[in-house]
Amino acid sequence: MTTPPLSRIAVLASGGGSNLQALLDHFAGAGRSHGTICWVGSNRPGAGALTRAASMGVETGVVATPHDGASLLAQLEAARADLLVLAGYLKLIPVEVVRAFHGRLLNIHPALLPAFGGAGMYGHHIHEAVLAHGNTVTGVTVHFVDEAYDRGPIIAQWPVPVLPGDTPATLGARVLAVEHQLYPLCVAAVAAGAVTLNADGHVRGQLTVPSASRPDAIRFGIIPDAQAVDTDRDLSAFASELVHFFPR
Ligand code: GRF
Repeated sequence: MTTPPLSRIAVLASGGGSNLQALLDHFAGAGRSHGTICWVGSNRPGAGALTRAASMGVETGVVATPHDGASLLAQLEAARADLLVLAGYLKLIPVEVVRAFHGRLLNIHPALLPAFGGAGMYGHHIHEAVLAHGNTVTGVTVHFVDEAYDRGPIIAQWPVPVLPGDTPATLGARVLAVEHQLYPLCVAAVAAGAVTLNADGHVRGQLTVPSASRPDAIRFGIIPDAQAVDTDRDLSAFASELVHFFPR
């Protein structure tokens, strides 16, 4: 069965919106992927994300009562959104919305879930915890959202090294740069129906990574459909890239 494309993409963001900007640039850019950012909402009327969206001519809205699922659903219906993308949205998505957008609701988290996820794990708290634990690797996770916070089925992960002398700020900046590359690829793949959430709860499909522009490391975690992978070749590439990226 072919999955219908999810062309109209709504984004919810609470903060500055640098991930939103990466999405806006991706979908508005030359040779753009299928899909349009049709609406951007925020629980904070002064959020930078709303300014970024408005400056690119995208309709915006304030989510005045974030816990009210019926209101948020009405806003999403008015925008005719068929894919909902969270980009630094700090409010819990009401269960009615999670259910209505099952398999069509994505989040990005600046760590390798299930580590460093859940209550209280947002922003600099995540990178502080990574450093406090002495991790040598952190990363980015893009996942479908289900009813359990930060636990939905994983679409892609990308490791990021923790380097000697890192502070939460330097580590966070390194992670954020990866987020900006990974999230548009994931959103585009789900929008195009190339990556789907199956009824069995597993993610199926593969991301399309432009070979001319991809960094060497990008293929690390972008293999949601294990059956489609040449395991020997990919593990060997993975190992040689690890040497490059994790010199310690
Ligand atoms: C990002 O680190 C994202 O992973 C997390 O919140 C942050 C939002 O940053 N969910 P920005 O507003 O996109 O710059």
